[in-house]
Amino acid sequence: MSRKRAPQKQAAPEGQVAPRSLAALNRLISSSSPMVPGGTRAVLGEGPPRPDIAFVGEQPGDQEDLQGKPFVGPAGKLLNRALEEAGIDRRQSYVTNAVKHFKFEPRGKRRMHSKPTAGEVKHYRWWLEQELDFVKPRLTVALGATAALALAGKPLSVSANRGPIVLNGRPAFITIHPSFLLRIPEEDRAAAWKAFVADLKQAKKIGEHHAAA
Ligand code: URA
Repeated sequence: MSRKRAPQKQAAPEGQVAPRSLAALNRLISSSSPMVPGGTRAVLGEGPPRPDIAFVGEQPGDQEDLQGKPFVGPAGKLLNRALEEAGIDRRQSYVTNAVKHFKFEPRGKRRMHSKPTAGEVKHYRWWLEQELDFVKPRLTVALGATAALALAGKPLSVSANRGPIVLNGRPAFITIHPSFLLRIPEEDRAAAWKAFVADLKQAKKIGEHHAAA
């Protein structure tokens, strides 16, 4: 792992004053407009301050948008199962997203997930950095390429960078997004699942190690 350094402060977006607390930041995020018409709300991160691990996903999905909580839909169910298998208590971890609003395309009655662009990820990045500065996780786990992009401030391949890494001065760990497991062929799933759980177990050890240091 490369040397740890202080997170590089990003300049505040024009006209925005840095909030003084996580609650103030969350009020700011909650008062922002959805990415696309029909989005319900901004989905805030949840979990205790100073956790061993913060998990950063891509963006809320349909269920998250409706329920106002991160990772409560199909990807969240997979994440919960993997966390359980890795011995990580989700309630002791912080869970959030790089992008705070659900971006989707209406298809009939359904709202189909639409990947945020690099510009959209950048737009939310200042909030994510502020959020992590307040939450102070010992280790930040990027779930997938969008989270890695948001945390690094530049595109990073998940396969080439999977594992422990320092992202913008933060001790971090890159792994797959759980929804990847839903997209790959059935015959590849067992191995991908095993590798994902192994990553989470390694992340747990690192988080505990930093907590004890
Ligand atoms: N749900 C989330 O909250 N985030 C994701 O990245 C995917 C589903």
